[in-house]
Amino acid sequence: MTDTPEAFDAVEVIATKRDGGRLSDPQIDWVVDAYTRGVVADEQMSALAMAILLNGMERPEIARWTAAMIASGERMDFSSLSRPTADKHSTGGVGDKITLPLAPLVAACGVAVPQLSGRGLGHTGGTLDKLEAIPGWRAELSNAEILAQLEDVGAVICAAGKGLAPADKKLYALRDVTGTVEAIPLIASSIMSKKIAEGTGTLVLDVKVGSGAFMKDLEQATELAETMVALGTDAGVRTVALLTDMSVPLGLTAGNAVEVAESVEVLAGGGPRDVVELTIALAREMVAAAGRDDVDPADALADGRAMDFWRRMISAQGGDPDAPLPTPRETQVVTAPTTGVLTGLDALGVGVAAWRLGAGRSRPGEQVQAAAGVVLHATVGDRVVEGQPLLTLQTDTPERFARAEQALEGAITVGPDGQEPSARQVVLQRIDR
Ligand code: URA
Repeated sequence: MTDTPEAFDAVEVIATKRDGGRLSDPQIDWVVDAYTRGVVADEQMSALAMAILLNGMERPEIARWTAAMIASGERMDFSSLSRPTADKHSTGGVGDKITLPLAPLVAACGVAVPQLSGRGLGHTGGTLDKLEAIPGWRAELSNAEILAQLEDVGAVICAAGKGLAPADKKLYALRDVTGTVEAIPLIASSIMSKKIAEGTGTLVLDVKVGSGAFMKDLEQATELAETMVALGTDAGVRTVALLTDMSVPLGLTAGNAVEVAESVEVLAGGGPRDVVELTIALAREMVAAAGRDDVDPADALADGRAMDFWRRMISAQGGDPDAPLPTPRETQVVTAPTTGVLTGLDALGVGVAAWRLGAGRSRPGEQVQAAAGVVLHATVGDRVVEGQPLLTLQTDTPERFARAEQALEGAITVGPDGQEPSARQVVLQRIDR
């Protein structure tokens, strides 16, 4: 410890926000830096995060907070690449495997995709956990390997290095255990600090809305999307957001290996309609934002080019794209409770069930099961007959079935014939500036 005086006192900064005040630029710079250095204690940062959750932040405060988190670490630079770069970030959902087909698809359109991803915590799955179901695939790459793969293949999905926005890593872990994840200023600054530090030229945000998402309604999701689009644009990153439905799971799978298999189906020209629709919608946004509006991603999906890029992307990271994916030791089928029309299949219930089956973790660092998850045999709007299989639960540890079934209580609703719900809209709104 040195005796050098600190610029501020943590209690004074907390009290400013507790009393509904606006944090000054020097206060923000200091508190983010001092927390990263360990001078501001976890309990003090928790109090400040709760005050921010309750009293909010003005746009200039959020921008400064984001800049301070970026300044806590390194910034990557892709300007030496021969292609423009575009990245996508999803705020997290159930069955959200879109990154898997999307990255090779966009690369096939001549735009490089540096997709630095995370692992799942809670009911939303992690892209790296899914890809680790592929035998041999490696998530950890050095910055030099990322750059080389972007030049050679055009797409990389890997773990974000420890050097990017370390203030966010520490703060996110604290928010996770202090009930302060759901603050819009903190979510927006957390996501955008990582994406701006990553160095992508353009960014497309997939902001999920519905029971399986952080943002349960359109109003909150719009506020989050507008805040992030403004942060990105002001930082010189062309940023666009799509608000997309997360009231039911995306596609017919939630888990790890099962989501890889479904992504490969999409790349092979099949797959569920909603996954294909969202993959193409996001790819079009990324390609257009990167200045390549002369190409249509739908063509690159249809003619097999995206599949070629997938195979090269997986092989470049040690994975075998032809290896059989892990299968579960145990399965259990959930059947339709009655005959009629499937009117609801709650995303949160399915996500929690997949998580409890072993697809996700309840503590950072825990091992996930590659073969765990949920496979759906029907989607909302389908006619179902009492006793017909609706879902298959998969796990290596059958003692998990009971808790997974509990998560599904009330998640499945079957209505009388003639009460078919209106067709689901996947993309709800687009936000640009
Ligand atoms: N994802 C992030 O990276 N940060 C948040 O705060 C929420 C979701």
